Amino acid sequence: MKENQLKDYLEQTWNMIRRNGFDNPKNVLKTNDPQEIKNLLAKDLPQNPSAYSTLLRNFEHEILPGLNYNTSPNFGAYITGSGNKIGAVAEFIKAFYNQNGLKWNNSPITSELEQLVIKWIAEFCLVPNHNKGVLTSGGSMSNFMSLHFALAKRFPNREMEGFYGASKFTIYCSDQTHSSIDRAMVFLGLGRNQLRKIQTNAQYQIGIAALEKAINDDLKISNVPLMIIGNAGTTNTGTIDPLNQLAKIAKKYDLWYHVDGAYGLPAIRLPEFYSRFEGVEHADSIIMNPHKWMYVPFEASCVLLKEIPEAIHFSPDYLFTENPGERWESSNHTIELSKEFRALKVWFTLKYHGATQLTNFIKHDIDMIQYLADRLAPDFHIDPNHDLSILCFRFNDSSMEDAENERINIHAIRTIESKGKIFITGTKLQGKTHLRVYYGNPERTTKDVDYMINVIKETFQHLVSA
Ligand SMILES: Cc1ncc(COP(=O)(O)O)c(C=O)c1O
Repeated sequence: MKENQLKDYLEQTWNMIRRNGFDNPKNVLKTNDPQEIKNLLAKDLPQNPSAYSTLLRNFEHEILPGLNYNTSPNFGAYITGSGNKIGAVAEFIKAFYNQNGLKWNNSPITSELEQLVIKWIAEFCLVPNHNKGVLTSGGSMSNFMSLHFALAKRFPNREMEGFYGASKFTIYCSDQTHSSIDRAMVFLGLGRNQLRKIQTNAQYQIGIAALEKAINDDLKISNVPLMIIGNAGTTNTGTIDPLNQLAKIAKKYDLWYHVDGAYGLPAIRLPEFYSRFEGVEHADSIIMNPHKWMYVPFEASCVLLKEIPEAIHFSPDYLFTENPGERWESSNHTIELSKEFRALKVWFTLKYHGATQLTNFIKHDIDMIQYLADRLAPDFHIDPNHDLSILCFRFNDSSMEDAENERINIHAIRTIESKGKIFITGTKLQGKTHLRVYYGNPERTTKDVDYMINVIKETFQHLVSA
């Protein structure tokens, strides 16, 4: 491709982005109808080249309508961060240079920068001693890798022997822990029956007495307790477990201590939150997702460790290199071989914004969720234990039957999604459906929050009066 051609393509692309609303398109969601999206797509395998202008037009008509504008301030679903524009530029540069960190010598900077940004992320999260680890695609992969590291430490012979003949390993977490741990149990072959989900208290925190009882019950039947997981910001409500108490129990029983801070850990930077994360520094492994509360574009997550358990040793002839000791071979520690230059967008984001500005962004998200909570409170039941930048609330008219209240809340979630003006989701707390809002976008203003409130209130008014 000629240089001028690329320049022209980039210009056309930029115009297309602006034409469709740079940051704040009218609706977050254009359609959520699978058939409508399928119908838009041209399904035949392209046989011939296409002019870029045609391709871009195809994109606008076939692909764009199925995009969800999670960069918009009207987006408040799941824990989907807004990303940031500098990270998007980094993604372009990454793809342009097409680095592959499969081996150190195949892209030295991919390996080296990964190690540097891990150190920076650890410093950002005020756990500077956890300055080793791996970058992964997401929190699920990071949790998976953390379980792997716990097993690797406990069973150094696993590389050759596997776990045949070993007793059942049991893992302990709260009933609010992210489902990626269940999935890791499945994919690592440990089995979900060995995951002990400890009941939470009224604040959605893990019950400490119940945890210790579960460990002792397992010891009595010769199971092998392996790992305790603490939450530094649950997905449902943003809850932070008593991390210090968990650290003490992990130490007492000599268990691997893992902290899932995929979402919430960066809030440790705010002085008013700091003490609530105390104990995280004792973890053997911590995960954090820069693609959540560090505003890095998807996908970017990491496992932070003080020490990396022993690497796997084998290497086929075609991957052999000399001097491996001084070279960081990421593939000796993870399942991935080919590896994108993920660190670049983290590096761009941290350099461009700096830790202080990112901290201000986090504070802003928390302030905005409080603003939302205060204004919804007169009309809705706000869950009193929502935390960080997550809010759960429900319509609850005491003159109505429980089932009717439930029906209205469920219906509201569906209606809001189908209108597409804002996007928020739902969850169940203590068996009752709640609407759930997550904020992770520093560009949101109180005006945007007011808009969200109007959409929510209008929806309920309509449903109640129908
Ligand atoms: C606490 C927590 N852990 C893990 C995950 C999984 O992260 P990912 O979606 O990046 O796989 C999430 C996702 O929201 C989460 O909130």
